[in-house]
Amino acid sequence: MISVSDAFSKFRSRLELTDREQEDASRRHYEIRDYLKSKFDIERDFLTGSYKRWTKTKPLKDVDIFCVLGAKERHRRDKPSAELLKAFEDALVEKYGRANVSRQRRSVTVDFGVTPNADEDTDGKVMSVDVVPAFTKNKHYEIADTSVKSGWTETNPEMHYDLAVKAQERYSGEWKGIVRMCKKWNAFHGKPIKPSFLIEVMALEVLHPPFGGDLRYEIKALLASLADRIHEAWADPAGLGPPVSDSMDKAACDAARSALMKGSDAAARAIQIERQGKNGDALRAWRSDVFGPLFPLS
Ligand SMILES: Nc1ncnc2c1ncn2[C@@H]1O[C@H](COP(=O)(O)OP(=O)(O)OP(=O)(O)O)[C@@H](O)[C@H]1O
Ligand SMILES: [Mg+2]
Repeated sequence: MISVSDAFSKFRSRLELTDREQEDASRRHYEIRDYLKSKFDIERDFLTGSYKRWTKTKPLKDVDIFCVLGAKERHRRDKPSAELLKAFEDALVEKYGRANVSRQRRSVTVDFGVTPNADEDTDGKVMSVDVVPAFTKNKHYEIADTSVKSGWTETNPEMHYDLAVKAQERYSGEWKGIVRMCKKWNAFHGKPIKPSFLIEVMALEVLHPPFGGDLRYEIKALLASLADRIHEAWADPAGLGPPVSDSMDKAACDAARSALMKGSDAAARAIQIERQGKNGDALRAWRSDVFGPLFPLS
């Protein structure tokens, strides 16, 4: 049987992007960019978000594709942002079908109809992408945001990228792995924290270096710290967009806090079971009570 510490190492690497997933993400990126370029004036486009930062969890879905619009599309900035998203939605529906395309707050999602198996494996396939139309603004970008009054949000994905790189360095290369695990916990428990980017933003502040050396205790402590501070307002770490916590009202924060405390208690119990020498039970506790089927039993 595998030890709990080896199971954590295996779990951490299972949450990393594989070569095949990156090839598939790149293939989908080029396919969508080539198509959209026939419909819009797109100056530049790139993969971004947690995918690019290596903080995305599995199964791999909602990979962000930024499409920076050129001068010919500038007129769209003077209209409501919902119209820009609608134009992208309509174009993508033409290619991928009505049932596979949906509009979000800041993006348009294209679903590729990939279903993960019982072990949450997608056989190297990306399940969906989020297409984000963007305008350049100074040294950063402005994107549609139908949940804020102005209709537009400024963002700087490069700065988010740099912050994650720095956090990773300060945390002995373990920070991103811990964020991915915590996002997995969140997804397995029905997403009490929304958006999952909020977990990453909170982790920038609540994971104090140095890395403690033991992922079991790191996870238990992180869930407890998130519970303690989930009611606070969490600003965009680049200082541009609206608070990242703006879609969690008091009731959502209360529910998240209670789920996080349960998560931390479940981690404490799994640690206790292992201390009693019951390795198999401890593995099952981490899997069924904390992380779900991606946490290995062997
Ligand atoms: N409130 C905000 N203000 C400014 N930029 C934001 C804000 N929220 C998100 N972003 C930027 O948009 C990107 C995409 O947002 P998204 O919600 O997909 O998060 P993500 O980090 O990609 O996480 P996920 O793993 O859920 O996809 C973020 O990575 C971040 O760079
Ligand atoms: Mg994303």
